Amino acid sequence: MNAILSTHALGRTFRTRGGPLHALSDVSIDCMPRHSLGVVGESGCGKTTLNRLILMLDTPTEGEVRFKGKPLRMLSVAERRAYRRAVQPVFQNPYSSLNPRLRVRRIIREPLAANTDLSGPQIDARVDEVLEAVGLTARDANRLPAEFSGGQRQRIAIARALASKPELMLLDEPVSSQDISIRAQILNVLTELRDEYGLATLFVSHDLATVRFMCDEVVVIYLGRIVEHGPANLICTAPRHPYTQALLAATLPADPDAPAMAVPPEGEIPSPLAPPPGCAYHTRCPFAREICRSVRPRAEADEAGGAVACHMVNQGGW
Ligand SMILES: Nc1ncnc2c1ncn2[C@@H]1O[C@H](COP(=O)(O)OP(=O)(O)O)[C@@H](O)[C@H]1O
Ligand SMILES: [Mg+2]
Repeated sequence: MNAILSTHALGRTFRTRGGPLHALSDVSIDCMPRHSLGVVGESGCGKTTLNRLILMLDTPTEGEVRFKGKPLRMLSVAERRAYRRAVQPVFQNPYSSLNPRLRVRRIIREPLAANTDLSGPQIDARVDEVLEAVGLTARDANRLPAEFSGGQRQRIAIARALASKPELMLLDEPVSSQDISIRAQILNVLTELRDEYGLATLFVSHDLATVRFMCDEVVVIYLGRIVEHGPANLICTAPRHPYTQALLAATLPADPDAPAMAVPPEGEIPSPLAPPPGCAYHTRCPFAREICRSVRPRAEADEAGGAVACHMVNQGGW
């Protein structure tokens, strides 16, 4: 099976006053049809940068993004339109991603009018259909975003994404701005729609527990680089990279009997302006040795279909 979307050694370095900032380095992922891939890492690790590169809101400084095998920069006008229809985003904050002056019908219509050849009546029918699919009603089409709660706004954003009948939905922390009480509802809407419409999802989050609920496969990013990837059930029950272990420990309730190796990440995240040499995680890693301070570990593939970039793991423990 071919990937809908893939990234190949993708990188983005920002020029800043403090010098080059490596927001994302050497990231290669595949989004397969009907597959749900999670990308997890702490705030600032490059998740939104990855999303923006995929959405062509930003351009890579290294590597490339491909749609069905073709680099985005080589897409024809028609292919670009197909891409914008096939890959639909849901952003973190529906307060800023929905134009407050437009009624819901207009909000959902706009990408359809731009990226499809549907007639006016077909578009209206689609608007009603997707509003119902996300648990709203056709009557809501005539209202303004301000008339909705945060959770309902995020449903509108999901309806807008769904309206183009995408193959892949890009979800950038879609529940982080929501009250805890409605997060589960939104996640349930997303999983139901995914099954019903046969969507692939790329779900980006700082929260491993949410990613575990939503995804088949997980990629863990630290300071812009992939440190581990593998099947979600393995990453979340038997993580191997010390950083993944720490992230997992942070999602579990404090258990006095838990093994001492599982501690939430301690200390500050280093500045991406001055990433530590060797393994970038060594400044926070309880297992760091001399080699970790000087040699960057390569990701080594394993039998489970994953890979880990850690000297300790790849040398079979110290
Ligand atoms: N336009 C930009 N200019 C300079 N630095 C940026 C820009 N956008 C993001 N960054 C930096 O890139 C890093 C990754 O940011 P981001 O992708 O937003 O992380 P995340 O979404 O995981 O929190 C951060 O250090 C952030 O400050
Ligand atoms: Mg972000």
